[in-house]
Amino acid sequence: MLKLPKDFLMGGATAAYQVEGATKEDGKGKVLWDDYLEKQGRFSPDPAADFYHRYDDDLALSEKYGVQTIRVSIAWSRIFPEGTTDKLEPRGVEYYHKLFASCAKHHIIPFVTLHHFDTPKKLHDMGDWMSPVMLDSFVDYAKYCFKEFPEVKYWITINEPTSMAIQQHVSGTFPPGEKGRFDNAVQAEHNQNVAHARIVNAYKEMNLGGEIGIVHAIQTVYPYSDSQGDRHAAALKDAFEDRFYLDGTLAGEYSPETLSLIKEILDANNQPMFKSTPKEMEELSKAAHQLDFVGVNNYFSVWMRAYDGASETIHNGTGAKGTSVSRLHGIGEERKPDNIETTDWDWAIYPKGMHDTLMRIHNDYPLVPATYVTENGIGLKESLPEGATDDTIIDDPKRIDYLKKYISAIADAINDGANVKGYFIWSLQDQFSWTNGYSKRYGLFFVDFPTQKRYVKKSAYWFKNLSETHEIED
Ligand code: BG6
Repeated sequence: MLKLPKDFLMGGATAAYQVEGATKEDGKGKVLWDDYLEKQGRFSPDPAADFYHRYDDDLALSEKYGVQTIRVSIAWSRIFPEGTTDKLEPRGVEYYHKLFASCAKHHIIPFVTLHHFDTPKKLHDMGDWMSPVMLDSFVDYAKYCFKEFPEVKYWITINEPTSMAIQQHVSGTFPPGEKGRFDNAVQAEHNQNVAHARIVNAYKEMNLGGEIGIVHAIQTVYPYSDSQGDRHAAALKDAFEDRFYLDGTLAGEYSPETLSLIKEILDANNQPMFKSTPKEMEELSKAAHQLDFVGVNNYFSVWMRAYDGASETIHNGTGAKGTSVSRLHGIGEERKPDNIETTDWDWAIYPKGMHDTLMRIHNDYPLVPATYVTENGIGLKESLPEGATDDTIIDDPKRIDYLKKYISAIADAINDGANVKGYFIWSLQDQFSWTNGYSKRYGLFFVDFPTQKRYVKKSAYWFKNLSETHEIED
């Protein structure tokens, strides 16, 4: 039987746009998604899990099932509808005070993210992470939140800078839907690293006594075979999707090898290298030396093969197994070994990847004082059984099996020396997914979206037991 440390925190993760709903209520400003989703016509972000109105009930349920901490994000455009700090919406401010008070009432520690994929529309239209106005406004908004919400003791600057940049500029699955612009993705990542650094440095100057970190999506990358070409494709993919931002935020400098791999990708695509200034690099370094923790989001691993054709990406946004394709010119092609189990969304279930990622942070980024697993979980197609009553329990053995294996991999990493202090399941309750709508469910609690009723899943009982005993049954 594996054990987690006694003070290890067990939590659930959410993001404002994915749970709150109420996108047009109480003066909330538009974000980059609103018009984009409406035009696409596939699904609406309302009502999501209606957390805007049901947070207190959800937190009561969470407390009952052993959830000790929760990731929430502040919807920037609820507080500053246009993004810039000249126009404040007091109803947004009041909502978050009430949410944090409810967390305290239910003995749940909030980890609060300032940006989780929901750039205010006005700033998005001005260039999003490519615009200096966006960067300045983000820093102003962050400083406002630090002063306004002293009840928050754990802050996260940005959720997954790279996922945002790659989906906005390479795979085109996030608005504005650009494809194949590796240069824009790298520049947007660097700019997010800078914005993050400015906020960390400002927070430390304010001396508020809390902790601040960043959340990264780290996918573990392996070569498909031992050939030189496959190993190089894996190194390129890792540099582009992991190492560039890990270096920038956790070491405070891009290593020469990282820069040379990034340049190789951009050269192969005839695109220019990103721009940075010496002042920005100083800011990055200062922030890396003051960072309190890094959050790791790890769900799956990828395997790479050498490839020199044109870029082609197909996103599996429906759960039709085997439909996703990722071949990137100048990087390589994703190809899973045959024996690897996958979800309906083609995500490879590979707990060793979690262990390897946590050990990588421990070994390669010694400045990092602590790590939290800030997202991990499995998206499944689940439905309410016919004739369900209030006490119907949703049976989700696949989720329990997944959690058992991944959390065991975390316990192994802790035994091997990694300082991992907590785990947040994605997600607390079923939520709205950016590119999959309502059919991909991750929650400990099932949400019947039309009625918004909550039903407990078996995994919530499993989670409660783990949270109370800290023992992972074999
Ligand atoms: C993470 C994001 O990348 O993965 C979440 O931080 C997201 O916002 C989660 O929902 C799962 O991704 P998806 O595409 O299955 O919803």
